[in-house]
Amino acid sequence: MKKEMSRRKFVSGSIGAGAGALIFPQLSPVTPRSQANPLKPIILTSHSNETGRLAMEAGWEVLKVGGNAVDAVEKAANVIESDPEDTSVGYGGLPNEHGVVQLDASFMDGKTYSAGAVACLENIMHPSSVAKLVMQRTDHVLLVGAGALEFARAWGFPEENLLTEKARKIWLRWKEELSPGDDWGSPEHLQKLKRKESYYKDFPDIEHHYGTTNVIAIDSNGDMAGCTTTSGLSFKLNGRVGDSPIIGAGLYVDNEVGAAGATGRGEDVIKSCASYYIVMRMKEGVAPQKACEEALKMIIDRYRKVNPDFYPSEKFVAINRLGEYGCASMTGDKNPLMSVMSGKGFLRHEGIVAWPGMK
Ligand code: GLY
Repeated sequence: MKKEMSRRKFVSGSIGAGAGALIFPQLSPVTPRSQANPLKPIILTSHSNETGRLAMEAGWEVLKVGGNAVDAVEKAANVIESDPEDTSVGYGGLPNEHGVVQLDASFMDGKTYSAGAVACLENIMHPSSVAKLVMQRTDHVLLVGAGALEFARAWGFPEENLLTEKARKIWLRWKEELSPGDDWGSPEHLQKLKRKESYYKDFPDIEHHYGTTNVIAIDSNGDMAGCTTTSGLSFKLNGRVGDSPIIGAGLYVDNEVGAAGATGRGEDVIKSCASYYIVMRMKEGVAPQKACEEALKMIIDRYRKVNPDFYPSEKFVAINRLGEYGCASMTGDKNPLMSVMSGKGFLRHEGIVAWPGMK
C-alpha cells in the first residue's frame, strides 16, 4: 500500500512538468560527437552479462577487419541465442504455456532499408539468422510458425530441442503453482507453502519474464544493422507474438539517423511503436539517451490516463549515426546496463532508470 501511495505521489508530482529532467531526475550526461568524427565501427547489445561481452567480442571480430554490420550483428546475436543459461533468448529460453519454446526475432539493414523477421519459430536455435535470410532472400518481412520453420528447414537449419532441463523445471513449477484449483503439484496435505509463494521463493525474477536482447552495429563504412531476438514472454499463450519481430516496435534501423531496440513487455512496445519513435526523435536531433527516456515517458503518459499505478517494464537502447548511444529502463532498483565494443575497447554503459525503486 505504501508503495502504491508513493507511486501516485510521484506521478502526480510529475504531471504538467514539461521538462524531462523533472520526470527523469537522473538524466545522464551526453557527450556530443562531432559530425566529422563519428565513433565507428561500434557494436552494442542490451545484454550486460558475460554472454553479452562474449557476443560483443564475436561481433567485433567481424567489424575490426572491415566486415559489415549485418554479419557482425548476426555473429553477436548467435552467441546470446546459444547460451543455455539465458532463459529469455534462443536455446534455454522459457517456453510458452504448453512447455514449447517459440522464438521471435527481427533483423534490419539500415543501408538498404531491408527487414526480415520470424515469429513463433520452434526448434531452431538461431532465429536471428533465419530473420536475416527472410530479409535478404525473400520479398517478405515476417514469416510465422509453420511457415517460418519450413523456410528455416529449406535453408538447412537443423531442428533441435530448445527446451533445456533448467527451463523445463521452471515451466513445471509455474504450472504447478498456477492455480489452487487444479491437481498439478504435490498432494495438498503435504504442501507447506501456499501455491505461488513457493514458486516466487525459488524463482523471484520469473513471475513474468520478458528478457530478450538487442544487438546493433555500425561498421567502418558507417552502415548500420540491428537485430532483436527472444524466446518472448515466459509461459505466454500459444501463438503469442511479442514486439521483437515487429519492425518499428522491437527494432528499427535507419542509416541516416540511427537505430533503437526494445526489451521488456512487448505489448506496450507494439502499441507505442517504440523503436520507430526513438529513431524519429533522434532524427529531430534528440540524443539517443534522451530519446530512450522520452519513449518511456510516452508510454507512461498513456497508461497514466487509465491506470496511474501501472508501470510497465521496458528497456530501450539506441545509437545514432555518430556512434553516440544510450539506454533507459522504466522501473527497477538499478540503472540499466548495456555492453559496447568499439576501437576504445569494451565497456558496460550505465543508462537511466526512469522510476527508481518501482517494480
Ligand atoms: N520483449 C519481448 C516480448 O515481449 O516478447
